[in-house]
Amino acid sequence: MQKNKIYIETYGCQMNLADTEIVLGILKNKGYTVTKDAEDADVVLVNTCSIRDNAEQRIYGRLGNFKTLKDKKPDLVVGILGCMAERLRKDLVEDKSIVDVVVGPDEYRRLPELIDVAYNGDKGIGVKLSRTETYDDILPYREDGLQAWISVMRGCDKFCTFCVVPFTRGRERSRELDSIVTEVKQLSERGFKEVTLLGQNVNSYNDEGNDFADLLAACAKVDRSMRIRFTTSHPQDLSDKLLYTIAENPNICNYIHLPVQSGSNRILELMNRTYTIEHYLNLIDKARKIIPGVSFSTDIIAGFPTETYEDHVMTLDVMRQVRYDGAFMFKYSPREGTKAYRMKDDVPEDVKSKRLQEIIDLQQQISFEINQELIGTEEIVLVEGKSRKSDKFFAGRTDSNKVVIFPVTEGINEGDYVKVKINRATQATLFGDYVEHIDIRNDNLALIA
Ligand code: 5AD
Ligand code: SF4
Repeated sequence: MQKNKIYIETYGCQMNLADTEIVLGILKNKGYTVTKDAEDADVVLVNTCSIRDNAEQRIYGRLGNFKTLKDKKPDLVVGILGCMAERLRKDLVEDKSIVDVVVGPDEYRRLPELIDVAYNGDKGIGVKLSRTETYDDILPYREDGLQAWISVMRGCDKFCTFCVVPFTRGRERSRELDSIVTEVKQLSERGFKEVTLLGQNVNSYNDEGNDFADLLAACAKVDRSMRIRFTTSHPQDLSDKLLYTIAENPNICNYIHLPVQSGSNRILELMNRTYTIEHYLNLIDKARKIIPGVSFSTDIIAGFPTETYEDHVMTLDVMRQVRYDGAFMFKYSPREGTKAYRMKDDVPEDVKSKRLQEIIDLQQQISFEINQELIGTEEIVLVEGKSRKSDKFFAGRTDSNKVVIFPVTEGINEGDYVKVKINRATQATLFGDYVEHIDIRNDNLALIA
């Protein structure tokens, strides 16, 4: 019997979710099939994240479960993919005897070969980083749906001092514009309604003189009923041209994820973020002028080395000034190999926790207030399906990525755009009533004309 059933679990960021689809694309081309049940699999793959220590600890815990599975089924192949594979390399097979295959983010093409190595009883290891690999020609394996990711560039050259990504994902490189546009077309033909263009720093996208704004405009043109999102942007590289491109294309969402990390210039410098808080706030003001109604989200780190109470208060101040729609908030976690690793991790754990909690509490309050202000307004919602909690309700999202829940109404289908009047709001969710259907394609074309 041929051993060809793959089970894969994905941890970490959206880039990893997109990579998993590339991995499955590669393996399906070689005759592998996908199973959703680890017990049923011949090969178990874990696509991993190294960004913070707790991410790695969770994955180690999960490997413990797979060890039990392997004890029952000794010829099961267990593979580690992604950032942890890159970071820990051979140590993984040495420390974790259950691991047979270790493949970093730039060597997924070799995965079929490395799985064969494991079938033959050896360890399959591929952890070279590449300056050119973009998996341009690989068609990712995607189940039908409304929302898809496309990674448009890989790697990062920024070297923020806390961040392991430049080491695990290597140097920046961009995919060809034409191949991305072709993929957007294929997704549109399959009925997808939303595409998120992904990269560690999408604003440094560059393909033969085409920058990220050119790419966004080209993708937005493909199908005006398709929403285009993107993440992540670096405050140093977000250009005016990009802001105007968002403003001019109604189907590019008015939503920018713009990690600030800290509100203190001293800390930003130690982080090598290459901007000041004044530059950052100017950028936010400019974006708000050029794109009326634009929303922002951010990433914040609490307790970076040497962070004082005053630095922390500056972060809270910036949050109050910008009023983010949402934030990903983390405690600083020292990562081996980074520059910050050599600084003393001198903010005590309980202080880090307290500061993080203050940041979270403030963000929740701001998100709640922003959502309360939407009560009484009508929002355009892309219907994603039944709500997770009850099949009497639909769930969808606004342009600014807010979840909207409203009662199931005859004539509404997944993938429709509808107007919903908001009548209640929590910190995380808007609730409302269906008003009418929207012909989004024609409305958007009319806005451009
Ligand atoms: N500790 C805590 N948070 C980190 N991030 C990246 N590296 C670390 C680290 N060592 C956060 C940053 C980044 C997001 C993806 O993860 O806020 O923007
Ligand atoms: Fe890491 Fe900074 Fe690159 Fe983001 S921009 S991936 S935080 S090094």
